[in-house]
Amino acid sequence: MHVPNYQEAKKRERVVFDIQKFVFDDSLKNLGKGKKYFVKTYGCQMNEHDSENIQAILEKLGFEEASDYLHSDLILLNTCSIRENAHNKAFGMLGRIQHLKEENPNILVGFCGCMAQEEGVIQALKKKYPFVNFVFGTHNLYDLPNVLASAIESKKQEIEVLAKEEKMMEDIPVKRASKHKAYVNIIYGCDKFCTYCIVPYTRGSQRSRKKEDILREVEELVHDGYQEVTLLGQNVNAYGKDLEGNYRMENLLEDVAQTGIPRVRFMTSHPWDFTDQMIDVIAKYKNIMPAIHLPVQSGSTRILKRMGRRYTKDEYLTLFSKMRERIPNVSISTDIIVGFPGETEEDFQETLDLVETCQFDNAFSFVFSKREGTPACKLEDNTTEEEKNERLYRLNEKLNAGFLKSNQKLVGKTLKVLVDGKNSTKKTSLYGYTEGNKMINFDGDESLIGKIIDVKVVDAKTWSLDGEVVCQKN
Ligand code: 5AD
Ligand code: SF4
Repeated sequence: MHVPNYQEAKKRERVVFDIQKFVFDDSLKNLGKGKKYFVKTYGCQMNEHDSENIQAILEKLGFEEASDYLHSDLILLNTCSIRENAHNKAFGMLGRIQHLKEENPNILVGFCGCMAQEEGVIQALKKKYPFVNFVFGTHNLYDLPNVLASAIESKKQEIEVLAKEEKMMEDIPVKRASKHKAYVNIIYGCDKFCTYCIVPYTRGSQRSRKKEDILREVEELVHDGYQEVTLLGQNVNAYGKDLEGNYRMENLLEDVAQTGIPRVRFMTSHPWDFTDQMIDVIAKYKNIMPAIHLPVQSGSTRILKRMGRRYTKDEYLTLFSKMRERIPNVSISTDIIVGFPGETEEDFQETLDLVETCQFDNAFSFVFSKREGTPACKLEDNTTEEEKNERLYRLNEKLNAGFLKSNQKLVGKTLKVLVDGKNSTKKTSLYGYTEGNKMINFDGDESLIGKIIDVKVVDAKTWSLDGEVVCQKN
């Protein structure tokens, strides 16, 4: 058994990782024959993409996908650590699964993802949730066949979590959720150590994939008719800094654009590593979408310093203006945390001022959540929960007013939209995303799904647009 260890996880040495190709023992290929699986995913796009790998691995082992967890033989939770409520959701789900397992002890239960990298969670799984059959971490997803086989054979709780990443795995099979949009990992982990964030511990040190592997994956997607790739990483701008040579994010973006994929997106960016060259490349290529997710976290330079963000409010605003000036029709979204330890009303006002100035196109806002083992967890915090929630409310009011304003500016314009799917609850039949990543609802034939078409914006809401199809392209 291997269990996570924060002291180990914190160690950051520049190592050249051993890159291996995913293989599994042929004798395991019927392990899941006649059985159904259900993977429940929490958290970010990284986790969603990991689940696409996990599903494909399970299908290689002979499992078939179940329609829901109530009708499956194997339930796997791919968990998220970022805030306390993500924890609560996963533990709540384990509670429901416990009842199912009391009725049917043969159900296999697995636990993976970021929470599996937390020491405290592993202790809880051992003590309070012994019915969980197997656990693996973010660094050894490829070990799933062996961990599962051991759990089935030993009939004991099998925990296999590496404290530190040991190798990089290529050619892990993938079952993509969409036929027209795909995620492509470009960099794993994060070395920024923002003081509130658990990611550098749960996802390990920054490791870039080799450009050849990334470009090969994108070329295959082009060949398979995909319309959009999203290049993924906790901090994509740091791409290449851990590799030999000077090949960086701007070079990768340019090469990915040149594969001819109709749409390229990337996320998430840290303002610290966002270079002028990146801005130039985004502006130059029509198929690099003018949509940048640029988390600011706070508008107070004092709080940014305490957060370990490495930029001031003014530096953020300078970068922001440069993007707005140089990238035509750019849409900029952000993340903001309120109630960071020591945040005063004046600090919070500075965040509101920044939001007023920037008029973001979209944003995710959060109340600070203490994460065990992070430096911010130990900071004195005198703001009450009530005050924090009140700040979140005021922040959201201001953010929402900005979203509506930016959406209203689009009314009457005809925009390129990648048709994503059918609307199940809305009056209009289809929805899609504009180049600026705005969701738009409109009526049209299902055959348009997966195509990029022209849609005229007829109305603006806070979080979406309404439109009418203008002309159909093949
Ligand atoms: N509390 C609240 N929000 C957090 N985030 C990261 N860590 C925390 C935390 N401890 C937010 C940041 C980040 C986004 C993915 O989640 O805003 O950009
Ligand atoms: Fe967390 Fe900061 Fe890394 Fe983002 S850049 S994953 S907020 S440590």
